[in-house]
Amino acid sequence: MVCLGNICRSPMAEGVLRERAARAGHNLHIDSAGTSDYHIGEGPDRRAVHCMKSYGIDISGLRARQFVSSDFDAFDTIFVMDQQNYRDVLSLARHDDDARKVSLFLNQAYPGENRSVPDPWFGGPEGFHDVYAMLDRASRAFLESTEI
Ligand code: 4NP
Repeated sequence: MVCLGNICRSPMAEGVLRERAARAGHNLHIDSAGTSDYHIGEGPDRRAVHCMKSYGIDISGLRARQFVSSDFDAFDTIFVMDQQNYRDVLSLARHDDDARKVSLFLNQAYPGENRSVPDPWFGGPEGFHDVYAMLDRASRAFLESTEI
């Protein structure tokens, strides 16, 4: 799961998918990262932690890190939150096999629509709940479609 800062959208996505995968009995290795170095080592935004807690998911222990090219080796799939993340991650792809792993997470729920998860950083708490609903929908769609 990749966003810009790795303190709002992608740690929430990591938490939602991990919870849903565990409930469905899937053993997946799920992680998140940011394209920027702005918040390396920091925990998630407190609004994101609070929002997730209201759905019973604790993401307070996550720490931000920056996406690196070796993540293409470590993961089969790289889900990005928005179009800028998509461009930034693709710019680190070393070959076509890397590039093929990258897709917008909301395309899981809305195939071909190329929707972005809006950045809730500048808004109020309701933006985080909107983000949660989108991530939950995409996580369910991914787990329903995937053969694992
Ligand atoms: P995120 O949100 O990409 O969902 O983690 C942001 C967090 C911080 C900043 C931008 C987006 N920032 O500019 O510091």
